[in-house]
Amino acid sequence: MTEHGPDQPEQTTGPAQSGVAAAAPATATAAAPAPSPAERNGKMVLRLADVHTYYGHIHALQGVSLEVREGEIVTLLGSNGAGKTTTLKIISGLLHPREGKVEFEGDDVSRVPPHELVRRGIGQSPEGRRIFSRMTVMENLQMGAFSRPDRRNLKGDFDRVFELFPRLAERRSQAAGTLSGGEQQMLAIGRALMSRPRLLLLDEPSLGLAPILVAQIFSIIREINAQNTTMLLVEQNALQALNIAHRGYVLQTGQIVLGGQAADLRENAMVRKVYLGEM
Ligand SMILES: Nc1ncnc2c1ncn2[C@@H]1O[C@H](COP(=O)(O)OP(=O)(O)OP(=O)(O)O)[C@@H](O)[C@H]1O
Ligand SMILES: [Mg+2]
Repeated sequence: MTEHGPDQPEQTTGPAQSGVAAAAPATATAAAPAPSPAERNGKMVLRLADVHTYYGHIHALQGVSLEVREGEIVTLLGSNGAGKTTTLKIISGLLHPREGKVEFEGDDVSRVPPHELVRRGIGQSPEGRRIFSRMTVMENLQMGAFSRPDRRNLKGDFDRVFELFPRLAERRSQAAGTLSGGEQQMLAIGRALMSRPRLLLLDEPSLGLAPILVAQIFSIIREINAQNTTMLLVEQNALQALNIAHRGYVLQTGQIVLGGQAADLRENAMVRKVYLGEM
């Protein structure tokens, strides 16, 4: 993980925002943020309602509820073992809730298998990247388009990915296993984009990257979002994630303990202490 020191918040005299749902009240926030897509009442893309799941006897998710609306970047923060990857697996259909419900674009998808969810529009860049290391960059990207119903205009999708990640274009014929960590991360995101997801799930895209690459990845994530892709971003890099997200949730041992506007979470005392390392 990339370490970063606590940044100083911008001090303003504006009123405290009221969007944080629990724990310590938010202190004064920076100038009022632009209305988020949720505040503009975007269409509901994803909804988890009271989701419980287990690994054997381990009660990994203990009633997780969250929402993502069209156009949003929502970040899911939490320490190691909190249940972030498990939550993404529930959404992508790799795990099914024992109790509770997952809705995608209004449909109950709690029991829908992963390949069908990709077809319906959920793309994922998984934890640990999971690229095919013996295949070339091009072949990896092709795999991403595999389950898409409409495979016309693949060229347009390659162009888009290579525009976002020029480094991948230079290395298109190179075996993916020989790419650097940062390039592999770009490939994992690029591959997910090839399925033209309407909801993109990203599991710790900044993990293990040098600070300059972290900044680059976050700015590309923002750009992908600006091109109309709704996102759920799992991160331990709380500050950077909250800087690009509209809203966020904090997960602790399988439970959502806090949720609200990103600007409010950035100022929240508990978030600053636990995730930004401030005492
Ligand atoms: N396949 C598994 N079998 C048993 N327990 C598991 C399995 N996968 C995860 N767990 C447990 O479930 C809990 C949540 O794990 P999860 O991988 O979702 O955490 P995470 O928030 O993604 O953590 P990290 O930041 O380390 O990736 C942990 O206690 C973990 O040990
Ligand atoms: Mg994880």
